[in-house]
Amino acid sequence: MIGNLNNPASRNGSRPTPDLSQPILSVENLTVSFDGFTVLDELNFAIGYGEMRFLIGPNGAGKTTLIDVITGKSKPSKGRIIFDGTTDLSRRQEYQLVRLGVGRKFQTPSIFASLTVYQNLEVTLGFRSRITRLLGKPRRGESDRIMSTLEEVGLQHRAQDVAGGLSHGEKQWLEIGMLLVQEPKLLLLDEPVAGMTRRERDRTGELLQSIGGERSVLVVEHDMDFVRQFAQTVTVLHLGKVLSEGTMEDVQQDPEVIRAYLGNSRSQRPQAGRLNGRREAEHAAPVAAD
Ligand SMILES: Nc1ncnc2c1ncn2[C@@H]1O[C@H](COP(=O)(O)OP(=O)(O)OP(=O)(O)O)[C@@H](O)[C@H]1O
Ligand SMILES: [Mg+2]
Repeated sequence: MIGNLNNPASRNGSRPTPDLSQPILSVENLTVSFDGFTVLDELNFAIGYGEMRFLIGPNGAGKTTLIDVITGKSKPSKGRIIFDGTTDLSRRQEYQLVRLGVGRKFQTPSIFASLTVYQNLEVTLGFRSRITRLLGKPRRGESDRIMSTLEEVGLQHRAQDVAGGLSHGEKQWLEIGMLLVQEPKLLLLDEPVAGMTRRERDRTGELLQSIGGERSVLVVEHDMDFVRQFAQTVTVLHLGKVLSEGTMEDVQQDPEVIRAYLGNSRSQRPQAGRLNGRREAEHAAPVAAD
């Protein structure tokens, strides 16, 4: 599963070229426990370069914990997370992740409400720019990069507007822009369409599709209509293990998946009662569409 560990480039000190036939992210026997309670249970999971993968599963399955551990927020008791061929993320700290090329978006947008949309991206780039300036590199292209990112997330016409005045959907796109402007190789998005209108949700799906291809994207989502519409490959997590993987059509017909959604969650949060996958039943089973 690990690419490039024997790449000669890594022995002479230069950065190894990633082997694109290998996964960009490979989670191997990953175990995470809280107070003796196993949340991720020897989990094995991989995402390819340029892939957009959807991660679904009942409440408490361990989806957010997986993102926490990939981003260094929680530490595993066992296992490895090999990123981009050589880096074991389980040995890195949260603050190192952006430099390594991993961007994470939490469910609630965290933007600078009193700054303009443009300034939000500028501030995000600020830290990196200071480092490059210290290294004597110019800030060439920074404003082009900000404007092309705003174009990518459909907010170029809002560049000079105060971010606090954006709609919920626009705030989510701005935050995705704040990740993209840092040029990540892997984006981790936890429930990106929660609380969005249908129109915003569709635009987000199109945005994610355009992001995929160049970068790899892992999307945790409960909105089954959304997943059905935009996912190519879906991984179902349950009790800290991969229960099923394949197209949405495959996994929604898997009896194990249906059983898991019908009530084996260990979460204290109540499961949704409806099974038709509409928005209001956002934690319901991914049952086949009519
Ligand atoms: N820091 C923590 N300390 C103790 N228990 C935790 C911690 N973080 C998560 N858990 C527990 O781990 C389990 C998995 O939680 P997690 O948030 O990863 O689930 P999830 O799949 O994201 O669920 P949801 O769909 O509801 O967001 C839950 O039982 C949760 O209570
Ligand atoms: Mg979660």
